[in-house]
Amino acid sequence: MSGSMHTLSLTPKKLEGKVAVITGGASGIGEATAHLFADHGARMIVIADIQDDLGQQVAKSIGTEKCMYMHCDVANEDQVKALVDSTVGTYGQLDIMFSNAGIVSASPQTVLDLDLTTFDRVFAVNVRGMAACVKHAARVMIEKGVRGSIVCTASVTGSRGGSRLTDYCMSKHAVIGLIRSASTQLGVHGIRVNSVSPSAVATPTLCRSFGGIDAEQAENICERFSSLKGIVPKVNHVADTVLFLASEDSAFVSGHDLVVDGGLLSKML
Ligand SMILES: NC(=O)c1ccc[n+]([C@@H]2O[C@H](COP(=O)([O-])OP(=O)(O)OC[C@H]3O[C@@H](n4cnc5c(N)ncnc54)[C@H](O)[C@@H]3O)[C@@H](O)[C@H]2O)c1
Repeated sequence: MSGSMHTLSLTPKKLEGKVAVITGGASGIGEATAHLFADHGARMIVIADIQDDLGQQVAKSIGTEKCMYMHCDVANEDQVKALVDSTVGTYGQLDIMFSNAGIVSASPQTVLDLDLTTFDRVFAVNVRGMAACVKHAARVMIEKGVRGSIVCTASVTGSRGGSRLTDYCMSKHAVIGLIRSASTQLGVHGIRVNSVSPSAVATPTLCRSFGGIDAEQAENICERFSSLKGIVPKVNHVADTVLFLASEDSAFVSGHDLVVDGGLLSKML
């Protein structure tokens, strides 16, 4: 997990008193970010996910006085609205929305074998769900006069083509379009909107995207994707970047897609 006690005792807490929602917080990048936000003094972290048992376990491991789990399928706007309204109703405000929940299709999905039913589900979660989270978070931030920070999880596939996973790649391009548009519209309210774009980190979603490989094979793939000697990309590298975008360290950064790829996208060949 990111941030040892030793490091934290020397490091100022960056989210003191903040209330945050993290979608997809039951696993992977969202889970690591929930722990890091707690280490940095967030007053309350609301984990929203569809994996209820895992979500409750993460909340318990962080401590129920500063983390709670709520079931929310982000593809359902009513559930997203209820998530945001109950967070504000219970904790008084919403400072940070980390809209992170996302899925991949289990089959390759080249354009020639695109299964449009799967395509619709990928878009329902990755695009519709992200848009609903940004919309409702911004609504309550404006109502409460909060100069909040919204961070969405895109991907390196959001700015490049791919040899497969066409639907996923298209959905992540849409996320970057969303944060660019929303940041333009919400800046007048003091709300910042950015995205984080990881390359490959070993999580259940990555395993699914490679046809159901196991955690060890996923680690090997991540090692191959790393262009920085000695560093295998991990969920905590992404969480650290989300913390930067969520905190005042990035006070004048908005509309930005921050890649966490060790330089992978800069490579020509
Ligand atoms: N792992 C990678 O290499 C990688 C790279 C680029 C982008 N991403 C993105 O990172 C984000 C997090 O994925 P991860 O890699 O941590 O995978 P993960 O599988 O560990 O976590 C994804 C979480 O999202 C939840 N989720 C799925 N559908 C949902 C829905 N409809 N409503 C609410 N929650 C839902 C899952 O239950 C799960 O807990 C995703 O948006 C993914 O596309 C991951």
